[in-house]
Amino acid sequence: MPYSKLITLEQFIVDQQSLYKDAQGSLSKIFRSLELAAKVVNRDVRKAGLVDILGNHGATNVQGEEQKKLDVIANDVFLAAISRSGEVCMIISEEMDEVYYVEGAENEKYIVAMDPLDGSSNIDVNASIGTIFSIYRRTNFTEKPSVTDCLQKGKHQVAAGYFIYGSSTMLVYTTGMGVNGFTLDDSIQEFCLSHPNITTPDDGKIYSVNEGNLNEFPEGVQEYVAYCKEKDKATNRPYSARYIGSLIADFHRNLLKGGIYMYPSTEKAPNGKLRLMYELNPMAFLVEQAGGLAHTGSARVLDVKPTELHQRVPLYIGSKNMVEKVLGMMVSEELQEASL
Ligand code: AHG
Ligand code: MN
Ligand code: MN
Repeated sequence: MPYSKLITLEQFIVDQQSLYKDAQGSLSKIFRSLELAAKVVNRDVRKAGLVDILGNHGATNVQGEEQKKLDVIANDVFLAAISRSGEVCMIISEEMDEVYYVEGAENEKYIVAMDPLDGSSNIDVNASIGTIFSIYRRTNFTEKPSVTDCLQKGKHQVAAGYFIYGSSTMLVYTTGMGVNGFTLDDSIQEFCLSHPNITTPDDGKIYSVNEGNLNEFPEGVQEYVAYCKEKDKATNRPYSARYIGSLIADFHRNLLKGGIYMYPSTEKAPNGKLRLMYELNPMAFLVEQAGGLAHTGSARVLDVKPTELHQRVPLYIGSKNMVEKVLGMMVSEELQEASL
């Protein structure tokens, strides 16, 4: 791309900001801090095999120093950067049991939720991983910030996105005006607009699910997986099965190509595995902005009222017609059961 046509993340945010009448630059500051943290984590991910940051947190290396697992490092890096933005009063993270109250920021108006390193089981085998974030506005200023302020429905997100540390490093985000993707140009260390206005196809031919758990899925989902494998020229079936085991990587591919990602309830885990605040809500905001759907099997993800920080919820997300199809099969299964 000729450098005259290059739009950096910084420039893009400044341009977008001028579209908001009341914008005061707070979000831009938060984004700058996320961008900086992602560059640091990206650097660490790229040398993960070279230094002692693989393996379990709590272990000690040959020098007797404490080894830090990469997801703990990522949590620390994002926590420090977001705190320094000066705009955020609370941070919640998959890696922390409780709310983190930013020191000296109790009057600030933003809350950040994050999964600092998603797909961590893939670090040791060199597959794509990432960081997921969402930003909420605090609504109550009469009392001190508290966990209740964090438990907002996903539809109240002000912004959401992810960094993917893949064959290249990308940021994909939304502020509710469509979805845009930026690729990190290593040589100048800038995220540059590479995927403007991402939309996801209404139909896809990829299904992504941990099929090892198939026998434990609700019957409607089992039926849908069987449907994906049936031969039918008119609907492009059988579909292709693709599952990396990093939500970000599976989601990113399906977003661009069209497809469905599912993490259903199982007998062992009736609420599935994925977390509403750190994984479902940001992905749901993104997919809806790109023209797709995100559902829990009983409600639109963005309408679920969270009851606890680390709440898990089943997920069906991706191309509109594919998500509607599996939901239809789940409903007809329930109706059949009810009539027995
Ligand atoms: P995390 O690494 O943040 O704990 O998340 C892992 C999640 C998600 O990224 C992925 O889609 C899912 O776990 C895979 O789970 P299974 O191994 O059960 O398929
Ligand atoms: Mn995760
Ligand atoms: Mn994680």
